[in-house]
Formats: sequence, C-alpha cells, structure tokens
Amino acid sequence: MVLTKQKVFRFTFTHFFAVLLTVMFVITVYLQFRLLTEDHCNCSRPVVQYVAKPKYYVNRNYDSNHKLAVLVPYRNRFEELTEFVPYIHSFLNEQKINHDVFILNQVDNYRFNRASLINVGYLETKSNYDYIAMHDVDLLPLNKNLTYAYPQLPFHLAAPTLHPRYHYDKFIGGILLINREHFGLVNGLSNKYWGWGLEDDEFYVRLKDANLNVTRPENISTGTKDTFRHIHGKDRKRDTTKCFNQREVTRRRDRQTGLHDVKYKVVSYKSMTIEGAPFNVVNIELFCDRTITPWCDCSGEKTAKKKN
Ligand SMILES: *[C@@H]1O[C@H](CO)[C@@H](O)[C@H](O)[C@H]1NC(C)=O
Ligand SMILES: *[C@@H]1O[C@H](CO)[C@@H](O)[C@H](O)[C@H]1NC(C)=O
Ligand SMILES: *[C@@H]1O[C@H](CO)[C@@H](O)[C@H](O)[C@H]1NC(C)=O
Ligand SMILES: *[C@@H]1O[C@H](CO)[C@@H](O)[C@H](O)[C@H]1NC(C)=O
Repeated sequence: MVLTKQKVFRFTFTHFFAVLLTVMFVITVYLQFRLLTEDHCNCSRPVVQYVAKPKYYVNRNYDSNHKLAVLVPYRNRFEELTEFVPYIHSFLNEQKINHDVFILNQVDNYRFNRASLINVGYLETKSNYDYIAMHDVDLLPLNKNLTYAYPQLPFHLAAPTLHPRYHYDKFIGGILLINREHFGLVNGLSNKYWGWGLEDDEFYVRLKDANLNVTRPENISTGTKDTFRHIHGKDRKRDTTKCFNQREVTRRRDRQTGLHDVKYKVVSYKSMTIEGAPFNVVNIELFCDRTITPWCDCSGEKTAKKKN
C-alpha cells in the first residue's frame, strides 16, 4: 500500500494530539495533587513573606502591658537559628510574655559587631516595645524559673553561676534583660567592638557608672550544666583578631560612641516562621568610620596579629 502525503500527515497529526492531551492531563492531575498536599504540610523550612516593614507585635496574646523585643545579633548561624526561634517562642509563651523575636543579621563586609547590631535593634523597635532581651542565638534557657518578665533593673539571666562557660563576677553577656529607659540612659552599647568579645564588659561599666545595679535570678537550683543549653558546635571559630590599636582602645571605657551615633542602614525586613514560630529578620548594613575604628577591617594591616 502506498501512503499519500496527506494520509501520513493525518496519521501523525492525530497521534500527536492524542499524546499531547494525555501529557497535559497527567501534568494537571500532578499539580493539583501537589497543591493539595502542600496546603496541609507543616513545612519546617522558613516561609518567606516579602514585607516592607517588620510585623510588629505579632504575639499580642497576654494580659500584660509589657512587650519584649528579643534582639538576637546574628551572622551565619542558620542551624542555631532554626533551633533557637521555635524554642524561645514556646518558652516565652509558657511564661505568657508578650514578645517578638528580631534576628539582627549583619550583611555588610565588616567584622561582626554584636554591640552595634543591638543598638540598631533597639532603635528599630523602641517605639513598639518597652524592654529588650540582648540574646545570644546559641543559648537556650532550660530552667522554667528563668523569668523573662519586665525588669525594674537590668536583669542578667545568664548569670556567672549559671552560664555553662563564663563565671567571672562582672560577666553580663549571654542573655540580659533591660528596659527601654535604662538602655537609653546609658546610651546603649559602644560601637567600637568589631570582632569577638569585650563589648559586654564595657557595657557593665556603663551600667555601673549610671548606678544601675545588675540583678540576677535567685531561685535556680540547677547548676552551670543544666540551666542553659549551649547549642553551638565545638569547632566554632571566633574572630579574636586584634589589629591596629584595637587591643588598647577596647580595654577602655568608651564615652564617645553608642546609641546616638550608630551608623547603619536597614536593607530589608523579612517576616518568617519556623515550625509555626514567627520572627523578623532585620538585614542590617553597618557603617564604619575608619578614623575612629580602623579595626572594623583588619585586611589593611599586614601585621595583623592573631590571638587565640
Ligand atoms: C500541623 O500544625 C498544626 C498546628 O499548627 C497541628 O494542629 C497539626 O496537627 C499539624 N499537622 C501535622 C500533620 O503535623
Ligand atoms: C523564681 O521563679 C519564678 C518562676 O517559677 C518567678 O516567677 C520568680 O520571679 C523567680 N524569682 C526570682 C528572684 O528570679
Ligand atoms: C545599688 O547597690 C548599692 C549597694 O550595693 C546600693 O547602695 C544602691 O542603692 C543600689 N541602687 C539601686 C538603684 O538599687
Ligand atoms: C524554682 O523556684 C522555686 C522557688 O520559687 C524553688 O523552690 C524551685 O526549686 C526552683 N526550681 C528549679 C528547678 O530551680
């Protein structure tokens, strides 16, 4: 049998359509199924909602006039973040604390500046919250007596007798609660501390100079091992480099810098949830005045010394 050109055309045309319709049907069914199952999944990955401003005060649940902003200086600790956020959210809910969590994410290329990030977090939240927790992302409170209630005086939760690692009397790092008025009164934290350490010791002196006595929890029967969980890996590297005259300057009380002169730009806000726990990421670009703190970037100094 000889096929005419027309017959061949008709034959392939019909088949092509049959196949096409089948494929489209299968894709439609598959997509429908996926959408339905995604609706019901409790996805543990963060759900990003693109908003221009943070969602202030999402947890206005409890019968209290006080509102806590949990300020968490942050860079490159995603695993710790995914543990911290849901944990602290439920810990604070159990205590009926009206709270929101702010992850202060430093996105510039300077060295990490925990103190300046907290200054920024305070400035960005002070009109909506009346106290803050300066909170490490890797420290989880275990003992339910660790109260996050509004502090009349600065309240150091991670006391030297309770913190897993730091035991000197003047230690006020880890987790510190302070009300809006007191943080403003001492001009926040110094902006001179680029790299790891000492900014909290300088803050201790600021509080002391202002006659703000630091209080600490008193009814904790768990010791240094069982009061907090330190969730960072053992191989965590810290930026302890000291360059230019950093070592000398950062040992002194800073009467120059603080809340009033922290230079920054909020690049964006993102409101997210992890396992149902809401929080805000504040992407922050810090600016550095190299005439005051050249050590915000040690790469310019060939002889940068390492201390470890
Ligand atoms: C999903 O989360 C909701 C609460 O947010 C809970 O009631 C429900 O049981 C969860 N479903 C699954 C399958 O885990
Ligand atoms: C002792 O623990 C309770 C919570 O169980 C808390 O309400 C109280 O304020 C704590 N006292 C001090 C001094 O920390
Ligand atoms: C701080 O403590 C000192 C002595 O330890 C005391 O004299 C002073 O009154 C306290 N200040 C406040 C504000 O409680
Ligand atoms: C909590 O505080 C109470 C007193 O307020 C005390 O009796 C109890 O032992 C404390 N619990 C823990 C686990 O520290």
